[in-house]
Amino acid sequence: MILRIDRIATELPPPSDPDPAGAAAVQELLGGRFGEMSTFLNYTFQSFNFRNRQGARPFYDLVANIAAEEFGHVELVAATIATMLTDPSSEKTKAPQDGLADVKGIGNPQHVIAGGRGALPQDSNGRPWNGDYVFSSGDLVEDLTHNFFLETGARNNKLKVYEMVEHPAARALTGYLLVRGGVHQVAYARALECLTGADLMKLFPAPRIPTEKIPECRPHLERGDHLRLYRFSPEDYQELPAVFTGPHPETGEELEVIDEAPEGVPANDLPAQPAVFAPDYAPEEISEIAEKLRKAADLPKQPTGVVA
Ligand SMILES: [Fe+2]
Repeated sequence: MILRIDRIATELPPPSDPDPAGAAAVQELLGGRFGEMSTFLNYTFQSFNFRNRQGARPFYDLVANIAAEEFGHVELVAATIATMLTDPSSEKTKAPQDGLADVKGIGNPQHVIAGGRGALPQDSNGRPWNGDYVFSSGDLVEDLTHNFFLETGARNNKLKVYEMVEHPAARALTGYLLVRGGVHQVAYARALECLTGADLMKLFPAPRIPTEKIPECRPHLERGDHLRLYRFSPEDYQELPAVFTGPHPETGEELEVIDEAPEGVPANDLPAQPAVFAPDYAPEEISEIAEKLRKAADLPKQPTGVVA
């Protein structure tokens, strides 16, 4: 089962100038071959299909636990794309005016026409994420080798998107994911080392990314987030430290398992976009209905959720 926490993994800046072309590029990090849907669903299916769990418990725990973090990365990329597509002026320009004319020919038209200026499970060409991206052979060494390759490709794509897209939300996203992807890459390399004796640590950094030179990576590195694997469960996946241990291949610092999920931060409450009916042509009517329902259910007058 999955337990859900209504917070995102790291702070994103609030909406500023929309960047539909940048948002289309960031889609590669969500629904591309090396995107977060791929990391999430590769590790998820591998954990679903994992045999002899008790006999191989530290490895099962590692794959299942990283899958949970990846779900949060899918959420974070989606939040970034929606932030980049949010038009602060859109509230005033509703149909039948030309409130959407300024995005004609820029970025992915489906973001506006099929979606409510939000993320879609697609790559940067608008192609749907594909289940064929999942590799779950059942052979642990093969699956872990694949996962190391997947994390390496993911970091490569993140760096290219960083270089291509200057929007502050995209920069905050890629800075964070480069650091966290690096942790997963180390985790899979170490797991392979534990199983086979092969020294994959000599491959680092792969690709040759100087993360310490990237300003948006630095706060996460200074906090030590490049060394930490978080345990994404109240009780389970206790055997992570059996594999995730030893020195970091690039810095020599000691790897560390944190015995709880990261705190996360509340997401920005993105404003309504009436021109695309998100959440409605007249969002204030939905707010009125919600207020009445809340009162009838004896809930507090103010909404209970937390937003940034
Ligand atoms: Fe990820």
